[in-house]
Amino acid sequence: MSEPVILAIETSCDDTAASVLRGLDVLSNVISSQDIHDHYGGIVPELASREHVKGIAPIVQAALHEAKCTTADLDAIAVTYGPGLPGSLIVGSHFAKGLSMRLGIPIFPVHHIEAHMYSGHLEDPSLGFPAICLVVSGGHTSIVLLRSLSSYEVLGSTRDDAAGEAFDKVAKLVGLGYPGGPHVDRRAKLGDPEAIAFPRGLMHDGTYNFSFSGLKTSVRYYLRDHPDAPINDVCASVQRAIVDVLVSKTMKAAREHDVRAVVVAGGVSANSELRARMSAECAKRSIRSVAPRAAYCVDNAAMIGFLAAHRYREGHRPMDHSFTIAAHALRAVD
Ligand code: KG4
Ligand code: ZN
Repeated sequence: MSEPVILAIETSCDDTAASVLRGLDVLSNVISSQDIHDHYGGIVPELASREHVKGIAPIVQAALHEAKCTTADLDAIAVTYGPGLPGSLIVGSHFAKGLSMRLGIPIFPVHHIEAHMYSGHLEDPSLGFPAICLVVSGGHTSIVLLRSLSSYEVLGSTRDDAAGEAFDKVAKLVGLGYPGGPHVDRRAKLGDPEAIAFPRGLMHDGTYNFSFSGLKTSVRYYLRDHPDAPINDVCASVQRAIVDVLVSKTMKAAREHDVRAVVVAGGVSANSELRARMSAECAKRSIRSVAPRAAYCVDNAAMIGFLAAHRYREGHRPMDHSFTIAAHALRAVD
C-alpha cells in the first residue's frame, strides 16, 4: 500500500497554517502570520479568528499546490483541536470537518502541544527515545519525557507565565515591539548579561517547574528605580536569567532520565542564547541536541500532520466529526 497523503491544518492562535505530508515526509508547509496584531501590542482574539476565516482556503490551496496535489489525492485530514484561542480553533476545525465530510475521508484531531513536543522527531526521525523535550512558547513552558511517539510524561511546567510571555512582557516594559522575544534576543547581543542580577525563579527547588512572573515584576521595579538603564543590558540580563533556568532544569531532567537526546521546541527555541547554551551543555555530556528548523518551531501544520500520519500508520481509529475544540492543559498520556 502506498503511503497515505494527509492534509494538516493549524489555526490555534494567530498563524494560519496548512501542510501536506506523504507518510512522514513533508511535501509542503505553508504558514501565514497575522501582522494585524503588531499594531495592538498583542493578539486580539476576535481579529485572529477573522483573519483565519479570510486566510484558511487560500493557505490550504497553497499547501496543496506546493505539494503538487489536489483534494482528490488526500487520504485523511489532521487538525489542531486545542489548546488555543477558541475562535481561532473553531475556524480550522470546522474547515477541516467540512472538507473531510465532503471528501469522505477520516479526520484526526491533534493536540497542539503534543505536536510541538515531537517536532524534534519530525526534524530528525533517527532521534529515537527516550528523549527530553523542553517546550517553550508564548503560552507554554514544560519539560516532557518522551518515551515513544505515543507515550510521554510531563515532568514539570510553569506555575505562572510562559517563557515567551516573559520575553514579550519585558520587551513591552522597555518599549520594544511585539512579539518581544526576537527584539530582546537582538538587543541582548549588544548588552552585558551580568549587568543586572534578575531573579531565577524556582532554580534550585528540585522540581521541573518554572516561575517567570517574579522576573517581570523585578524588571518593572528595576526600570522604575533606574530610568536611564541601558536597554541592551536589561535585555541581556533578562535573557540570561530565563536561559539559565531553562537550561539547568532541562539538563537535570536529561541526566535523571539518562536520555540520548534533548529537543527544544516552540517559538522561544529560536532564541540564540538558549540554542547555543543547550547545545554546549549537551555536547559536554555526549547527548544529542536538536532544535528543529524555524518552520517546525513556530506554530505550523507539518507537526500536526506528523502525529496524525503516525497514528494513521499505527491503525488508530480516526474521530467522527463530533469532536469539539478544547483549551485544556497538557497532561500525561500512555
Ligand atoms: O510557539 P510560538 O510561535 O507561538 C505560541 O505561543 O504558541 O511562540 C511565540 C513566542 C513569543 O512569545 C515570542 O516572543 C517567542 O516565541 N520568541 C522568542 C524568539 N522568537 C520568538 N523568544 C525569545 N527569543 C527569540 N528569538
Ligand atoms: Zn505553539
